[in-house]
Amino acid sequence: PKAVFIEANGGEYEVEVSVGQSLMEAATDNMIDGVVGECGGVSSCATCHVYVDEAWFDKLPPADDLEESMIDVARDPMDNSRLSCQIKMTEELDGIILRLPVSQF
Ligand code: FES
Repeated sequence: PKAVFIEANGGEYEVEVSVGQSLMEAATDNMIDGVVGECGGVSSCATCHVYVDEAWFDKLPPADDLEESMIDVARDPMDNSRLSCQIKMTEELDGIILRLPVSQF
């Protein structure tokens, strides 16, 4: 399956993601600068913050408490904010669109 990352400056990247891989890992593997993944994927840095396109947001399992609390302290959180390290790719998420916050540009 594929995921599409759209940077705050409009740069768009379509990347192939293995099922079970996190979207943060997919972004860092593909050198997408807007996703840093500083903490290595354990919900403690928020440098992997993304806005999930509405068409996919409801397909994601809900965020756990730790993720919620990191989103609260992230820059510019919105209703469709998630940490991309907590989103694991599935066949159902093929084509998922993620926008990156201005603060991560
Ligand atoms: Fe640190 Fe996601 S990589 S919170």
